[in-house]
Amino acid sequence: MSCLPKSVRIVEVGPRDGLQNEPVHVSTKDKVELVSLLGKAGLKNIEAAAFVSPKWVPKMADSAEVMAQIERLPGVIYPVLTPNKKGLDGAIAAQAQEIAVFGAASEAFSKANTNSTLDEVLNRAIPLVEQARAHGMKARGYISCCLGCPYEGATDPAKVLDVAIQLREMGCFEIVVSDTIGTGTPRQSAALIELLLPHIPVDEIAVHFHDTYGQALANVYACMELGVSVVDSSIAGLGGCPYAKGASGNLATEDLLYMLDGLGIESGVSMDRILDASAFISGVLGRPPASKAGQALLAKRKG
Ligand code: HMG
Ligand code: MG
Repeated sequence: MSCLPKSVRIVEVGPRDGLQNEPVHVSTKDKVELVSLLGKAGLKNIEAAAFVSPKWVPKMADSAEVMAQIERLPGVIYPVLTPNKKGLDGAIAAQAQEIAVFGAASEAFSKANTNSTLDEVLNRAIPLVEQARAHGMKARGYISCCLGCPYEGATDPAKVLDVAIQLREMGCFEIVVSDTIGTGTPRQSAALIELLLPHIPVDEIAVHFHDTYGQALANVYACMELGVSVVDSSIAGLGGCPYAKGASGNLATEDLLYMLDGLGIESGVSMDRILDASAFISGVLGRPPASKAGQALLAKRKG
């Protein structure tokens, strides 16, 4: 029998995953305003920046400025991505409370995304997580390509498990099972979570679905039925990975919230305020939100 969680923690990744791949230039001021609106909506986890090489991801080059300028609301965590020591130094200087290291279940993606083999990435992450924790920061561990890879095709679930165990053993408090190219379907997603569950406690598993094939919400539901209660999403469905061609945005926060509200699952997030953030960033980008719920509810607002 399925058993849905009573509450879900939404991890908003729009300002990072959303804007890292955005062709339109978004100013630091607008990024800061977006983070502010997301905080006002009640989100407690807002991934705000990435201390990665600006040669690789130019859109995140102003991460230090973003972190310096955001108003940090009490009780809200603003995680940042850190691929290496330089990234960690940036996170420490920015007084981030949480970092994210990122590995993959695919060797070819690892090379494309970080110019490193998977072993190199994981070995580099060990001291990062250790030092982050010594600085009082928590570390999330992403695993990309859990349900398919843009270069290698199908992913071996055993590889996901292997990387998840390594990330957990190095001290990541949460393992983020990520469908980078959004090819996964609900039964496949659930089967992967079932494989992880004997090794990773359910409250240490988060899911991160890109919505390229329109499966993200169904996949989240399937994972929630297994007790998963931490879900990444992105305002207005922004997102994509520069190293996963064709990967579209993440599951939209508006769509996730609409479903959670409808199921009576507590998230602490206000739909009305989320729509403010959705309308704001859509105005900046000059296009409607990719979210169906966002589009419908914003149209209703206009009357
Ligand atoms: P590299 O070129 O092998 O590294 O890149 P390098 O050490 O030779 O450095 C090259 C240049 O970058 C140097 O500058 C470094 O100083 C600089 P130069 O001396 O030539 O002037 N550099 C940095 N600058 C600022 N911050 C840093 C940093 N590191 C080096 N941290 C590296 C290797 C890992 C750095 C690079 O490949 C990289 O930054 N990759 C990140 C790519 C990325 O951000 N991808 C998107 C995020 S992951 C994602 O979206 C997936 C996720 O959403 C889950 C999912 O959906 O699957 C999380
Ligand atoms: Mg992503």
